[in-house]
Amino acid sequence: MNPLRNGLVEDRTGDACAVVIFGASGDLTKRKLVPAFYNLGVSRSLPSGFAIVGVARREKTHEQFRAEMKEGVSTFSRRKPIDPAFWSDFERGITYVAGTFDAQKTYEDLRLHLDQLDRDRGTAKNRLFYLAVPPSEFGQIVAGLKSAGLVQPPNVHREGGAWTRVVVEKPFGHDLASAQVLNDTIASTFDESQVFRIDHYLGKETVQNLLVFRFANSLFEPIWHREHVDHVQITVAEDIGVEGRGKFYEQIGVTKDIVENHLMQLLCLTAMEPPISLAADAVRDEKVKVLRSLRPMERSLVQENVIRGQYDRGAVRGDEVPAYREEPDVARDSRVETFVAMRVFVDNWRWGGVPFYVRAGKRLARRVTEIAVQFKRVPHGLFRAPDGGITQNVLAMRIQPDEGIALRFTTKEPGQHTVLRDVAMDFRYGAAFGSNTPEAYERLLLDSMRGEATLFTRRDEVEEQWAYIDRVFDAWRAEANAPPPLYAAGSWGPEQADDLVARDGRRWRKP
Ligand SMILES: NC(=O)c1ccc[n+]([C@@H]2O[C@H](COP(=O)([O-])OP(=O)(O)OC[C@H]3O[C@@H](n4cnc5c(N)ncnc54)[C@H](OP(=O)(O)O)[C@@H]3O)[C@@H](O)[C@H]2O)c1
Repeated sequence: MNPLRNGLVEDRTGDACAVVIFGASGDLTKRKLVPAFYNLGVSRSLPSGFAIVGVARREKTHEQFRAEMKEGVSTFSRRKPIDPAFWSDFERGITYVAGTFDAQKTYEDLRLHLDQLDRDRGTAKNRLFYLAVPPSEFGQIVAGLKSAGLVQPPNVHREGGAWTRVVVEKPFGHDLASAQVLNDTIASTFDESQVFRIDHYLGKETVQNLLVFRFANSLFEPIWHREHVDHVQITVAEDIGVEGRGKFYEQIGVTKDIVENHLMQLLCLTAMEPPISLAADAVRDEKVKVLRSLRPMERSLVQENVIRGQYDRGAVRGDEVPAYREEPDVARDSRVETFVAMRVFVDNWRWGGVPFYVRAGKRLARRVTEIAVQFKRVPHGLFRAPDGGITQNVLAMRIQPDEGIALRFTTKEPGQHTVLRDVAMDFRYGAAFGSNTPEAYERLLLDSMRGEATLFTRRDEVEEQWAYIDRVFDAWRAEANAPPPLYAAGSWGPEQADDLVARDGRRWRKP
């Protein structure tokens, strides 16, 4: 059963399994993972044989770990308040193993514990290892798992036996070379079919809906093409700053944090050819083809097509906010970009000559992620209209917030005169299906338990993404990493980003 065929219907539980979370004392576990499992449980999507095992350095009892997780679920679950009867049953499946990742004893203890869970909780020897730790720890963990005999090769499952899978969190490397090292590290122990690389954007309902929207409607596909599309804009905007994570952000910047993964995945889903089926590799093959079609960002192209920015002081929703360089743990002369805009070309038959303008940033005017497909102007202007012409039809797919799809078109205002007015047909998820839709992590965790890899990033996708972004960084280094232009917090980025599209006679949308 493929996840994309099911829409909102949760019609199959995951396989019986034990989920082992390495780094279970971290933020991700209590904020996202355990709340997601709790909600899967409430919606009856968990198998009857199920257990969560937290692994981290600090000594603690099962009860202490359960209490921490209960607090996390109470705070972060989409269903509130916590259901006490359900929780008391659910928490019996939550246990904890203390140990450092470099000690073989940790893995031996874990093996004995998992064997016990197979007997007590019917977890059927299936293991989902979740690496909720910095990538520097991956090597030790996968080596430890392998030497403790905790990893079954994939043919065991193919022949009807138990499965072993590993879920890996971002950041998946900081450039192509480091991503390849990580991939090699994981490949030393796991077959690619066992590796589930999370890009949580792919778990969002609206992102999954992109494929359904494109390929389950006959209306859009014929016009999804250079003949009809003038250009595409993809925006991933945040209004928040670095929120106390200055140290982390100084190492990464927006291009590596957002563009290399989430934004490029959105671009792939927008530009890809119809896959021959919705099987994981069929979809991922098409996404890789888009990545391989991107016009390489040679140095001269970077200067022309990529604009960096860094937020200065300004006002966001009426509040005065500091400049990036005034944030804690940020260098006073930092050159890290908090905004980037790019003009990207997909050099293939479908998209030849159609620019994709993409931008991502922090401290922008509002939080919004959207893909806007702008159609060509009518070929002949019959009507007089302001701006000397009729505006273009726009299909805007809003990923967050207010998930939905809006189609803008031109109509006549009622009255004696022919006055043109833009209106929108607006479909909103919340209004159509109710707002309590599953969190991205729920979908992704369930899919990893089902062995459905469609919504996870394959090795070659990750490496193609980095190869593209590395060239941008090479060009910036060659300019001695000049300081990025500043933009006022609460604006839509530096004016150079406006010039990037204005040169082509276009404007950024104000989503
Ligand atoms: N939080 C999110 O929403 C989010 C979103 C996307 C991706 N991620 C990624 O997911 C991973 C986990 O995120 P997180 O927010 O939970 O991180 P975190 O709060 O920093 O926790 C990381 C976990 O790793 C352990 N750890 C860190 N360094 C270690 C070391 N040298 N040796 C052994 N254990 C070590 C920590 O153990 P101690 O408690 O013992 O220090 C903790 O259990 C990270 O790679 C992060 O980038 C997180």
